[in-house]
Amino acid sequence: AQKDGYRFFMEKEIYEQSAVVSDCMLGRIKDNEILFDEIEKSIIDGITEIKICACGTSYHAGLTSSYLFERLSKIKCSIEIASEFRYKEPLLTKDTLFIVISQSGETADTLEALKMAKAAGLKTLVVCNVDNSSMTRTADATILTRAGIEKGVASTKAFSTQTVVLWMLALYFAKAKNLISDETMQKELHTLREVPKSLCISDKIHEKTKRLSKRYLHGHGFFFIGRDVFFPLALEGALKLKEISYLHAEGYPAGEMKHGPIALADPELFTIALMPQNLLYDKIKSNVEELSARDSTICAISPLDFDLADDFVKINSCDHYMLEFFEMLIVLQLFSMEISIRLGNDVDMPRNLAKSVTVE
Ligand code: M6R
Repeated sequence: AQKDGYRFFMEKEIYEQSAVVSDCMLGRIKDNEILFDEIEKSIIDGITEIKICACGTSYHAGLTSSYLFERLSKIKCSIEIASEFRYKEPLLTKDTLFIVISQSGETADTLEALKMAKAAGLKTLVVCNVDNSSMTRTADATILTRAGIEKGVASTKAFSTQTVVLWMLALYFAKAKNLISDETMQKELHTLREVPKSLCISDKIHEKTKRLSKRYLHGHGFFFIGRDVFFPLALEGALKLKEISYLHAEGYPAGEMKHGPIALADPELFTIALMPQNLLYDKIKSNVEELSARDSTICAISPLDFDLADDFVKINSCDHYMLEFFEMLIVLQLFSMEISIRLGNDVDMPRNLAKSVTVE
């Protein structure tokens, strides 16, 4: 792999997302349904519950999909961090489809969780970027994310392709169970086809994140907040920033701030607020207003102007919250990368981290 003129592999991989997400959807989106040649429709027979296990960024993709599985496929869905799942003596029942998500397919905790589920007789599925990895060899079924090699330790294109695969899977199950109207399916498929466009990066957005990085690199406490699928996106934004800039950041559900963290609010607390137009806008707005009233420094990311923000990143207006999700993902990834570059860190090989965590 070459950097092809980009400063870091991470930057190249952020820019590749639009193309790899197209690859990921290729042949899988048909006129009014989703097709996965690699799995049998019967995979969902007798299944009343989905359990997802993963680590790090893959966990965030899984958490995002847990909203989509319940909303679109109407299947009960829970998700656990693999290292927790392994030792909690989990109750596993055979009406559960066990899904693991992993870029590398080698993460020790996720692999062990998969083996436990298999041993308990559950149907298992891995969403993975590496064919012939330990997980693809172990699981009953595999869906490959087709992201191409990811070199940067901070995962970027793996996350966007995982999210798209899981969203498609939610639609696939919804159709298999006959629980989705043609109209909703058409709208979702149309939106999926628009994702590569939302992942295209304009010079304006990149420049904006570069400018913001000048000020925000001085932050020593960041809260990334969002609701619904924007909560896992907030977690992902915070993880990216921590990993490569070494600044303390937390992702939090916006509605939960008043239950403790708002006590931290002051001008030194930097809040990155994810404010989509198409999902719970008024709710997140009122959460951000509460922080602003306590003088927190706010950077809002939204298609809608928001006067109380100290800084504002305007994303394109879209008609579906998942498109806003991907528009914001780009902003968060570039924001972390630009801060890390300004701090002089090794963006691709952050300290203390490895690309593949094969020990527990
Ligand atoms: O290969 P995996 O997806 O199983 O890896 C899981 C995590 O180790 C990984 O996502 C990690 O959190 C990344 N460095 C995040 O950018």
